[in-house]
Amino acid sequence: MAVLMGGPSAEREVSLSSGRECAKALRVAGFEVIEIDAGPDLPAQLAAAKPDCVFNALHGRWGEDGCVQGLLEWLRLPYTHSGVLASALAMDKTRSKAAYRAAGLPVVESVLATKAEVGAAHVLPVPYVVKPNNEGSSVGVYIVTEGSNGPPQLSAAMPETVMVETYAPGRELTCSVMEDHALAVTEIITTGWYDYNAKYAEGGSRHVCPADLPEDVFRACQDYAVRAHKALGCRGLSRTDFRWDDSRGVAGIVLLETNTQPGMTPTSLAPEQAAAEGISFPELCRWMVEDASC
Ligand code: DAL
Ligand code: MG
Repeated sequence: MAVLMGGPSAEREVSLSSGRECAKALRVAGFEVIEIDAGPDLPAQLAAAKPDCVFNALHGRWGEDGCVQGLLEWLRLPYTHSGVLASALAMDKTRSKAAYRAAGLPVVESVLATKAEVGAAHVLPVPYVVKPNNEGSSVGVYIVTEGSNGPPQLSAAMPETVMVETYAPGRELTCSVMEDHALAVTEIITTGWYDYNAKYAEGGSRHVCPADLPEDVFRACQDYAVRAHKALGCRGLSRTDFRWDDSRGVAGIVLLETNTQPGMTPTSLAPEQAAAEGISFPELCRWMVEDASC
């Protein structure tokens, strides 16, 4: 088993952490594991390692967006998680939203805009959020609040085209899916917003899993997570994130995005949701390997 981790994306460190945890769990589950930091020599590394299966623990661009999946298809190497199309679609926040809308799932309005347009005037009524169209872990997210002093000036590191999205107020909920089975819903409680630091620093956020929610809201999140997984054509494990305005009941749920390579770090959510259902981390990783294909 080759575990792919690291890579060149903005989520490199997160992926190294996910990869190490998964490699450890796979060894516990009885697999022989080679850890591969996915650099430009990845094809040569795979040729040398000759794995029977690839466990993809990459996050973000090149590892979660269909690129590495295409390489693995080409090499006829079975790999975990979603295939080329679902990965590419999920990573593109605007196009995945079109698929959710077509499936009748609740999303907020968004538009693609250039950096220059975003800096010149408010593209949407405040409050709104500006994010790269294809990053994860809240890298490069700007929240433009009511009463802000004009539009945000985006950093040079931001891509030329970004997504501007109506701000969805409310509580942060998330639910993972194993193929067609939704796991427990988690509520994430933070002091500020759920940014990169809150996601990965020890004690950066508190997770309540299973979340203490009205039954219908809990079930609706599970239903939406499975439908989002299917609408994108995902495979194996995915995790769908929501905001919930608790003054509006089920109607207050908004689907933010689906992650086709959910974090597997010690502070990540999917392993906790599996544990809440009695599925240990090694069992979860074993299931993902059994589900792998190309
Ligand atoms: N993008 C990070 C790894 C997550 O969704 O968990
Ligand atoms: Mg994400």
